Amino acid sequence: MRIKLILVAIILAVGCVVSGQMGWNYYPAPSFPYSVELADDIRKEDTSCFRELKANSRRLREATVDIGIIKGKLNALEKKSLRLAEQMVDNQVWTTKKFDETSQQSKEMSYRLEDTKAMILNLILYVKEMLANKGEDSNSIDIGRMPSSCTDLALIGHTHSGLYSVMGTKSIETVYCDFTKQMNDSDFQKFLGYVDVKSTPTFFHVQKNTSFSYVGVPIPFEIVNANSGKAMNVATGIFTAPQSGTYSFSFAGLAQFQSSSNSADLEIRLFLNDERIASSYATKAGSWSSTSNDKFNQVTLQSTLNLKAGDDVWLEIYSHGMGVSLHDAADWHHTHFTGLLVEEDLV
Ligand SMILES: *[C@@H]1O[C@H](CO)[C@@H](O)[C@H](O)[C@H]1NC(C)=O
Ligand SMILES: *[C@@H]1O[C@H](CO)[C@@H](O)[C@H](O)[C@H]1NC(C)=O
Repeated sequence: MRIKLILVAIILAVGCVVSGQMGWNYYPAPSFPYSVELADDIRKEDTSCFRELKANSRRLREATVDIGIIKGKLNALEKKSLRLAEQMVDNQVWTTKKFDETSQQSKEMSYRLEDTKAMILNLILYVKEMLANKGEDSNSIDIGRMPSSCTDLALIGHTHSGLYSVMGTKSIETVYCDFTKQMNDSDFQKFLGYVDVKSTPTFFHVQKNTSFSYVGVPIPFEIVNANSGKAMNVATGIFTAPQSGTYSFSFAGLAQFQSSSNSADLEIRLFLNDERIASSYATKAGSWSSTSNDKFNQVTLQSTLNLKAGDDVWLEIYSHGMGVSLHDAADWHHTHFTGLLVEEDLV
């Protein structure tokens, strides 16, 4: 609005001067120089153009004041927006910072381990260097425990890259150590796999040589095909874990239902100490021969168990009907119980 006013004032002022100049050409009496006439006019203050100019200059002054106010307001606004923009930037920075901090924190958590590792490595290198400087044999540091990494091996004195066995968390591991690499290099140690180490080889395969029908007692065995580590006591039928570890067991037997059997099932159970781990049963089904009413059925059990050293595992008949038995006879080999140590816990 004010700007418009200023423009109008300027146009009027210019218009007035121009018309004055033009008036020079139209004045009928050229003997009066324009400037003199105009100076006279100014002094007299009686031309309409001068009045107009005066009014215009007043408007200009007013407009100038207005411009000053607007400028002030604009300045204030500018400062305010600047502050606002600064605040926005600050907020953005703060938010970004917070976000960075949060993601940084989780990163830090994972890096902290690396840092610790790096710190320890540096310490180790420092100690090695110190020992070397003291002229001691830095190639045979006693780490006071079994090596669990290529770093340990390097400390012990290994210098040739190659495949090594190190102590893992539960078993021995095979690693490739590249001693040409820095200890903090990811290629310094490469995990290859677990080493199958058994302090006592343990596996057995036993069979019965007679039928058996006692209920609630461990089933003994007569035929021993294998019993490495002698963990299976065939006389008592109880297997005792020599070491903590994972063991696998499998049983297969034949249930016989004599023609006189009045109750038609046989249930076998596998026990770990006094806990029933598995059970299986056979029921009187189709005849094995058209000329006999005797019936047979397979009973099988499998289990893979984590055992502690000294744990006992055995089989027993939980129940059977009259005339039902776990069937076997001389050299028929119907009944099998096998077990083996799959993986030993070394630590
Ligand atoms: C390993 O440590 C050395 C010395 O501290 C450093 O110069 C190098 O960048 C590190 N390498 C890696 C892969 O972290
Ligand atoms: C199985 O029993 C038969 C008959 O009693 C006997 O001759 C044989 O030696 C036994 N086998 C074993 C391995 O004990």
